[in-house]
Amino acid sequence: MEAPDISLRDKVVIVTGGGAGIGRAIALACASVGARIVIAEKIPERCAAVAGEIEAMERKALSVPCDVTDTAQVRTMVELAKSHFGRIDILVNNVGGVARKPFKDQSENAWRRIIDLNLISMLATTSAVIPHLIDGRRGGAIINVSSIEGSRAAPNYAVYGACKAGMLNFTRSLALELADHGIRVNAIAPDYTVTPGLRGNVKGPVDPSTWLQPSAEHEALTARRIPLGRTGVDTECGNVAVFLASSMSEYVTGTVIPVDGGSWASGGWLRNSAGEWSLTGEL
Ligand SMILES: NC(=O)c1ccc[n+]([C@@H]2O[C@H](COP(=O)([O-])OP(=O)(O)OC[C@H]3O[C@@H](n4cnc5c(N)ncnc54)[C@H](O)[C@@H]3O)[C@@H](O)[C@H]2O)c1
Repeated sequence: MEAPDISLRDKVVIVTGGGAGIGRAIALACASVGARIVIAEKIPERCAAVAGEIEAMERKALSVPCDVTDTAQVRTMVELAKSHFGRIDILVNNVGGVARKPFKDQSENAWRRIIDLNLISMLATTSAVIPHLIDGRRGGAIINVSSIEGSRAAPNYAVYGACKAGMLNFTRSLALELADHGIRVNAIAPDYTVTPGLRGNVKGPVDPSTWLQPSAEHEALTARRIPLGRTGVDTECGNVAVFLASSMSEYVTGTVIPVDGGSWASGGWLRNSAGEWSLTGEL
């Protein structure tokens, strides 16, 4: 029997928001199995830093500072990627995020920005990349970074949740539209994963010394809520993205893989203070 092949040798992978957090982890994980990486990231120093990390692994990287909510910048980024590496094989739509606020208190500008960041960015990059995947005639993979909030109610994150749910159904629909071209479309859905964005480091270089630290009580409650008993690590999303990008998953399309320590499966069940599962979190 042939061993499963996780290699992405010669593949060209575009990662949006690849300069930090989950995007950076996916970029490094793909590079570690041979891929060449295009980092499409709005903060130039983050772009350069991750490109440097990839080159230090003796892999190739192209850093393209850009705002992926802007369709013109996206088209330019994709053309640069194609002319630099000569091909595009995999697209990771990772850019997204939100700040907590009730919908009734949000201005139209505010909720439009959330939609631009979480949904329009995915549509813009996907639309620009598909012709290159089809022309390449080698198939390909699109991986959308959704969220557990795309599958459950998300009070104070309602527009974000709507976008993340939209990403999931776009994933399913596009998987069918592109199946004849051998292009697979899948999503991952993280829960609480420690990243610069989660810790409030949303500007300038990634600098853990500036990160807001949760209280010990908050961390303990999180550990009780998540079945595997801890917060997520960005490399865990990287690992699943490599699986979805590689031929290991060649018969997997139109689906979502939660990378959430079992949160989605728990469906509201909580550990009580004695560590037993209950629906109230109490004995
Ligand atoms: N961290 C979590 O707990 C968590 C949970 C569920 C889902 N997610 C999703 O994972 C994805 C990544 O989240 P993260 O926590 O790693 O975020 P992060 O803020 O740590 O990193 C995101 C990166 O994207 C870049 N970026 C932001 N807007 C951009 C734009 N318009 N154009 C180009 N680059 C841009 C940022 O500069 C940053 O470097 C998001 O889609 C988020 O919704 C995260």
